[in-house]
Amino acid sequence: MSALAPVIAVDGPSGVGKGTLCQWLAVRLGWRLLDSGALYRLTALAALRRNAPLEDEDRVAAVATRLEAEFTVRADGGLRITLDGTEVGVELRTEQCGNAASRVAALPAVRAALLQRQRDFRRAPGLIADGRDMGTMVFPDAELKLFLTASAEERAQRRHKQLSQQGLDANLKSLAGEIAERDARDSQRAIAPLRPAADAEILDTTRLKIADVCAWALALTAQRLTLPELR
Ligand code: DC
Repeated sequence: MSALAPVIAVDGPSGVGKGTLCQWLAVRLGWRLLDSGALYRLTALAALRRNAPLEDEDRVAAVATRLEAEFTVRADGGLRITLDGTEVGVELRTEQCGNAASRVAALPAVRAALLQRQRDFRRAPGLIADGRDMGTMVFPDAELKLFLTASAEERAQRRHKQLSQQGLDANLKSLAGEIAERDARDSQRAIAPLRPAADAEILDTTRLKIADVCAWALALTAQRLTLPELR
């Protein structure tokens, strides 16, 4: 019998800092990383490239099923992502792409098409899973579930800084509006809405530095999981 590899599920709204925490945890523990948002972003991008209307559930689900995407880890823990054999860069990280991802993510057939692909990331020695429904739907049996929150204003500022660092144009005011729209759609959709699992540990990161968030997550990991790498 082969036991399933352990999972740490990290959920929360846009711009809360999940990506930074997950990348740090994956490097610290030497575990694999699932950026589930990237799968929804890639599905939206592939659908747009194929001129499939984003509300056409059957067509977008077919795109998701046949998604030719690969994730490889760089030395710094960041991901190199390819779509149809070609690397996708900043295009994937724009707020427009995030919004398109949020729209296709509300379609049940698209979520169903991506479910097993996400679960396939669960391999030894363990998986850090970053998303909206990691603890509730994709890995309900995760060993540890973390849920990050922060004020809408703080999240817009963090996302603004992140986009500017990537050389992407971003206007703080319109970004705040786009994030609010995306959060409302992600939290109110009928299927797998953004919400903490009943057994999630919740942290409001509004006034915290990333180092504090990492320390909190690592302390919980050490408490809940018996890991040789943390002894
Ligand atoms: O985490 P992100 O910003 O890359 O995600 C983009 C969108 O994808 C997000 O607004 C909602 C959707 N998403 C989802 O519905 N479920 C996930 N597990 C991850 C992302």
